[in-house]
Amino acid sequence: NRDFLIAPSILSADFARLGEEVDNVLAAGADIVHFDVMDNHYVPNLTIGPMVCEALRKHGVTAPVDVHLMVKPVDRLIGDFIDAGASYITFHPEASEHIDRSLQLIRDGGCKAGLVFNPATPLAYLDYVMDKVDMILLMSVNPGFGGQAFIPGTLDKLREARRRIDASGRDIRLEIDGGVKVENIAEIARAGADTFVAGSAVFKAGSDSDPHRYDSVMRDF
Ligand code: DX5
Ligand code: ZN
Repeated sequence: NRDFLIAPSILSADFARLGEEVDNVLAAGADIVHFDVMDNHYVPNLTIGPMVCEALRKHGVTAPVDVHLMVKPVDRLIGDFIDAGASYITFHPEASEHIDRSLQLIRDGGCKAGLVFNPATPLAYLDYVMDKVDMILLMSVNPGFGGQAFIPGTLDKLREARRRIDASGRDIRLEIDGGVKVENIAEIARAGADTFVAGSAVFKAGSDSDPHRYDSVMRDF
C-alpha cells in the first residue's frame, strides 16, 4: 500500500527551456521535481542554485521541489533554498560538519529534510538522527553526472534502509537516484524504494519537437 512517486531530475532537461520542460514532465504525470545542485567542489560538476529554484516557482511550478545538495559546505545554501521555495532538502552527511544541525535548519525552515548516501557511504549515519529525517536518498551511481549505470549492490542497501524505516515506525520516504530506467524500476521498487529519480531516462526520451515526448516513459514508469 506504499505510494510511489516519480521524480524526474532536471539535470538532463534542456536548461534553455527549463520552465517548459518542467511543465511538460509534470503534465506527463511526474510527481515531484528533482533539483540537482552541484558545486564543482563536493562533486566535479557545476549546475544550478537557489535563483533557478525561485524562477521555477515564479514560473508557476507548484509541485514539490526535491533539492539534492551536492555541495560543501552545506548550511549556507539551506537558508537560500528555503527562501527559494524548496519542499525537500537533502544533503550528503560527509559534506556537513554538523549533521544534526543541518537537518534541524531544514526542518526549522518548514522543509522536509533528508540524508543522501553515496554508494560506499554507510547507513550508520542514520543511527542518531532517524527522528529528524523525512527522506533517505540512496545514490545508485557516484554523484556528479547523469546517464551513469545503476550499481547493483544498491539493491541490498535499499533493503537495509527499508528495514530501518519500518523499524522506526516513522513516515520516511526512501528515494533512489542514478541509473533508474523503465527496465529496472520494478526490481528497485521490490527492494524497498518508494521515490524514484530518473534523469536521462525521462528527458532523453522521444523526439525534441514533440510536446508530449515524456508521456510514454512516464506511463511506463
Ligand atoms: C547525479 C544526480 C542524479 C542524476 C540522475 O549526481 O544526483 O539526480 O540526474 O541521472 P540519471 O537518471 O540519468 O542516472
Ligand atoms: Zn540527484
